[in-house]
Amino acid sequence: MVIGDPINQSKSPLIHNAGYRALGFDGEYVYLAAHVRASDLKEFVGGVRAMHIRGVSVTIPHKQTIGQYLDEIDETARQIGAINTVVNNNGVLRGYNSDWQGVVGPIEKHTVIKGKKAVVLGAGGAARAAIYGLVTRGAMVTIMNRTHAKAEALAREFGVDIAELSEKEILKSADIIVQTTSVGMSPHEDESLVPMNCLGAHQIVLDAVYKPLETKLLCDAKQMGATTINGLEMLLGQAYYQFELYTGHAAPTDAMRQALA
Ligand code: ATR
Repeated sequence: MVIGDPINQSKSPLIHNAGYRALGFDGEYVYLAAHVRASDLKEFVGGVRAMHIRGVSVTIPHKQTIGQYLDEIDETARQIGAINTVVNNNGVLRGYNSDWQGVVGPIEKHTVIKGKKAVVLGAGGAARAAIYGLVTRGAMVTIMNRTHAKAEALAREFGVDIAELSEKEILKSADIIVQTTSVGMSPHEDESLVPMNCLGAHQIVLDAVYKPLETKLLCDAKQMGATTINGLEMLLGQAYYQFELYTGHAAPTDAMRQALA
């Protein structure tokens, strides 16, 4: 199941249930969404134990707080500082993070990340997962964020570089750009942090925003010949990894993707 506050917009039930159907797990597994408030989180985790619920996808605002109620935290989730996946193994609840897979997975369909120059825009939770993923795969990462101090703290923690959003040469020379801020999200659809003349055919540009599906950044990038990856690809990428954690089977990626069509 998936929990969050709010939760009514979640596409996760659609994606995971399509995966169960495709593998004939209908009936054995069912994926639900639940609106769980922060004040009820502890009780919810008790319910997971009581009902032997196999897995829980965790979204805002619980990613940083659910860890205290779990038995184990995976090393990757600890480093990212957020849990978006809980697996119940015979009563032992372990927290994971699959968000970084949503960044790395779709990019690796197009290129080898090792040795590439990557720019991450933003310094929030999504940026942390992106930086972890890119660093793990051997990219040279530079963080750009509106608030310098936040970028600096993150850069120190992950051992990566920092630059100002105004440093166009760094954007221009990036092989990979990962946009994790809310800039470009509806209703601010006409905004982008990257000037068009910093985009080019040698780049892969990923935008975590999926409303609209094609942000101004992705539209500009496409026009300049770049390879573009939208926020739904990211959502799917992390869901594939969750599916494997929950079921022990490889995710039926086509069926899960088609659920969003
Ligand atoms: P999430 O956890 O989803 O990544 P977050 O923690 O709220 O969300 O982080 C939002 C990020 O978007 C921040 O890096 C924020 O920049 P600040 O650190 O300066 O606040 C960035 N952001 C949001 N709105 C922005 C805007 N209009 N221009 C530039 N950056 C923006």
